[in-house]
Amino acid sequence: MPTTLTVPLGDRAYPIHIGEGVLDLLPEVLRQIPAKGTVGVVTDSQVGPLYAARVLELVHQAGKKCVMFSFPAGEESKRLDQMEAICGAFLEGGLDRASLIIALGGGVVGDMAGFAAGVFMRGIPFIQIPTTIVSQVDSSVGGKTGVNHALGKNTIGVFHQPKAVLIDLVLLRTLPDRELRAGIAEIIKHGVIADADLFAHMETNAAAIQDRNWSLLEYPIQRSCEIKAAVVAEDETEQGLRAILNYGHTFGHAIEAVTHYTKYLHGEAVALGMGAAGYLACDLGMVDEAFVRRQNACCTAYGLPVSWREVPVEETILAMKKDKKVRAGTLKFVLPEAVGRVILRTDITEEQVRGALEALRGPA
Ligand code: GLY
Repeated sequence: MPTTLTVPLGDRAYPIHIGEGVLDLLPEVLRQIPAKGTVGVVTDSQVGPLYAARVLELVHQAGKKCVMFSFPAGEESKRLDQMEAICGAFLEGGLDRASLIIALGGGVVGDMAGFAAGVFMRGIPFIQIPTTIVSQVDSSVGGKTGVNHALGKNTIGVFHQPKAVLIDLVLLRTLPDRELRAGIAEIIKHGVIADADLFAHMETNAAAIQDRNWSLLEYPIQRSCEIKAAVVAEDETEQGLRAILNYGHTFGHAIEAVTHYTKYLHGEAVALGMGAAGYLACDLGMVDEAFVRRQNACCTAYGLPVSWREVPVEETILAMKKDKKVRAGTLKFVLPEAVGRVILRTDITEEQVRGALEALRGPA
């Protein structure tokens, strides 16, 4: 059954429609947004051939003109020059202050289209139509947009909330298995940070979910969005609480950086990051070994990595120090106290981080 949640941000509140077939709501959603101009659709070379024609048809049904911009799929496209190309194509295509942008794709598309919407004509509305699990449960909600710079991931961008998010589970049918499993790492993350029942659901239903039993995936996607919406409503610009959404990401981002974004998908790096965070929390006496085993078992049930024998420990520590999350020389870690509860710690020593990365190598 389709559901609608609201991200309660006052006069910038917006709906998240979740369920099979909610893409068909697009004409109605478009009619409700006061933007009369041409619609710009941003997509990529992977998603465009699958779903752009349907989206264009729905935009036309709403009585609107449409211009599409597609770029080569992949993290390497998340650059400022690609953003300039998007804005150029939309200026040529007649988009103006009264226009609206639609993001059709995974996290890279959503981040770029959202950033384009945030700066085009100093800001126009946009709609997110995420097509991967990572983007459905994480990046499409919350208004973080931007691109990478050679000196750091997601270092150039703006907070710009969408006007609506359409999470259609039908769009996941074409998602490759590895991408599906990687996205599940972000759902497991939401379980660990805020909801033991969600975590248990992911544990119990690992086989059926990987068999693509969509009815078992709808609840975790919806619950993840609820958790994310509640956190964002309380701390939109990450002054405090929002950092909990980065559980597994301090280690994860560093692992992605040292492997040049080629060895692991984002979700896989997050699974490794949660593994390392579990070891660190255990070392600090915050959780017991049973927690570590349980979290690792849940990730493993989805084929997600929880150990990496060759992890380059010193290089990874260096990458962490470079990450933009390091402020005034302090590494910030979101660490578990139990399944469903985490806290932010800024008092972790380099030696403790080294220990957690060494533990990630697995038993000698
Ligand atoms: N993905 C973390 C956040 O949106 O804050």
